[in-house]
Amino acid sequence: MKRSALAVGSMLALAALIRRACSNELFLDYLLNTVVNKIPFPTTRLALYRAAGMRIGHNSNIMMHVRVMSPHGIEIGDNCIIGEFVWLDGRAVRVGEGPGLKIGNNVNVGANTIPGGHLPDSADFFGLPEKTVVEDNVWITMNCTILYGLTVGEGAVVSAASLVNKDVAPYTMVGGVPARYLKDRARDLDYKLYNRERWI
Ligand SMILES: CC(C)(COP(=O)(O)OP(=O)(O)OC[C@H]1O[C@@H](n2cnc3c(N)ncnc32)[C@H](O)[C@@H]1OP(=O)(O)O)[C@@H](O)C(=O)NCCC(=O)NCCS
Repeated sequence: MKRSALAVGSMLALAALIRRACSNELFLDYLLNTVVNKIPFPTTRLALYRAAGMRIGHNSNIMMHVRVMSPHGIEIGDNCIIGEFVWLDGRAVRVGEGPGLKIGNNVNVGANTIPGGHLPDSADFFGLPEKTVVEDNVWITMNCTILYGLTVGEGAVVSAASLVNKDVAPYTMVGGVPARYLKDRARDLDYKLYNRERWI
């Protein structure tokens, strides 16, 4: 009884700290990427991501060890699975309206998938990421890199270890470095990715 009260108390304290940290973007990212992403309880983790400003739909899960930047710029729909060690980068929220990273419903992002990095021609090397959209029913498999500013169309599949440097057309499968069209995907998809009990 005492132990569970202590656990609840620590989580509430962490949630309060996260809400206060929302005005300090770097400290907030630090808390999310050193503490929150190591919590082995999906419900608690998701509550803390929401407290940090991330919009997450019903029955979606962000697995452990995911790296998050600018959570208030990230929107994730219903029934999504974001795999281990994926990077979610919402920093492009600073460019115009809407989220910096928008992920639709029923999207599966495989482990280790990351966004594009620096802009080589920016004067300070840093650059600002552009908005990225991943539409409903997309499957991005393991170890992919999705450069900034792109749309992965509804129902598309990005096969393993691909580098996506152009928009991906709906219901197509792409693959390779850089990713090229491989084949069409069936359009009569009928699945939901609600797996929270099975995936930590
Ligand atoms: C997406 C995937 C499931 C497609 O499998 P599939 O429908 O059976 O496709 P095929 O194996 O028939 O491949 C079709 C073509 O695409 C090519 N291809 C497949 N994956 C590729 C890749 N990652 N990069 C480049 N080409 C690829 C194949 O060589 C084949 O080309 P060919 O017709 O010239 O021989 C599979 O490619 C894949 O990436 N699996 C990884 C799954 C994964 O990461 N799971 C864990 C995360 S949830």
